[in-house]
Amino acid sequence: MTLRARIHGLLDPGSHGHAARRVRALEVLLILIGISSVSAGTVGGLAPAARAAAATVTGIVAVLFLVEYLARFWAAPENPRFQSATEIRSRLRWVASAEGVIDLLAVIPAVAVASGGARLGAESAAVFVLLWVLKLATHAPGVGLIARVFHNERSALAAAAALFVIVLFSAATIAYWLEGERQAEQFGSIPASLWWAVVTLTTTGYGDVVPQSAPGRVVGGLVMLCGISVLALLAGILATGFAEEVRRREFARIWDLVARVPFFADVGAIAISDIVGRLRSRSYPAGATAIRKGAAGDSMFFIVTGEVEVRIGPRTRALRDGDFFGEMALLDRKPRSADVVTVTPCTVLVLDVADFYQLAGQQPALIAAIEAEAKRRRADDRNVDTS
Ligand code: CMP
Repeated sequence: MTLRARIHGLLDPGSHGHAARRVRALEVLLILIGISSVSAGTVGGLAPAARAAAATVTGIVAVLFLVEYLARFWAAPENPRFQSATEIRSRLRWVASAEGVIDLLAVIPAVAVASGGARLGAESAAVFVLLWVLKLATHAPGVGLIARVFHNERSALAAAAALFVIVLFSAATIAYWLEGERQAEQFGSIPASLWWAVVTLTTTGYGDVVPQSAPGRVVGGLVMLCGISVLALLAGILATGFAEEVRRREFARIWDLVARVPFFADVGAIAISDIVGRLRSRSYPAGATAIRKGAAGDSMFFIVTGEVEVRIGPRTRALRDGDFFGEMALLDRKPRSADVVTVTPCTVLVLDVADFYQLAGQQPALIAAIEAEAKRRRADDRNVDTS
């Protein structure tokens, strides 16, 4: 792998490797340090030494962002999304993309300072903070998920927003009609009444504008109730949207892992989707005890990557990618028959006991294959016992 491909791998938001994740965390930390140092610089009574230190930190962060921008620019041809006929075209496509533009905006402070166009002081602080908050918004984990949820739920959100606007204008118009003469300054026109309507509908209630007539107060109370309902509706739409999107992503991730376990290769697509919905992934470091002899059997495991050691008395058996373990306690309804310890870092898929029994009813062929292997293992264990 070339150095450029490696750097792209480290900087690509889609990379799931340990190093790439660490780089992403570092980037977010750097942005937070930058925002904090710029914000600290705006505090009035700061000692000159502390102010100078904050300005130095801000300068270092700005320069690091410039280095990161140049690295991304250099590695852009490695990104399949921006691949083009020539390398320079790929780079230009990255520069013109949303992420390229945001990264460019984030280096403006460094360029401005280096060229002498700005001083690292309180006067440029607002620009720095705004640009870096924008960068944080694109790099922070989960922001993509939020954007996706808003996109998925756009029609439901638009319906709630329409309801909000309808109630808002109706409230402002009725308040203008009921209170316009009594409080000409606050309710003298529909646009003027809109401030009261927004403050009441969002249940903020500053109390700076208050209807004085009895009918006006009744309308105020109704608007508050409508406000709570609309907010509850919005919260409900977003909460279900989040839950669905997280479930969808988890399903796709587990599906990917299941595809790497040969044991599931012969199972049809419909059955696989049933199995995928029941599995959870879990990671173990090397040397971890996944199963302890004598413990109650509450789940079985399919190894996606890594190697484990089954310790049956003095003898051991190695299981690796594609193998499964922990099935015997579920089939025999007995305590665990051996210790299972990871030899290398492992990613496994876990099937809980309740799902195991449900699956036994729906996928008899799958469970028969597990049972056949368990039978072979029992015979093997008996040999171990007698030898
Ligand atoms: P269980 O008894 O639930 O917990 C220990 C697990 O070790 C057991 O299920 C099997 O999955 C596994 N195991 C036991 N004996 C052997 C063997 N001889 N070869 C491979 N795996 C085994």
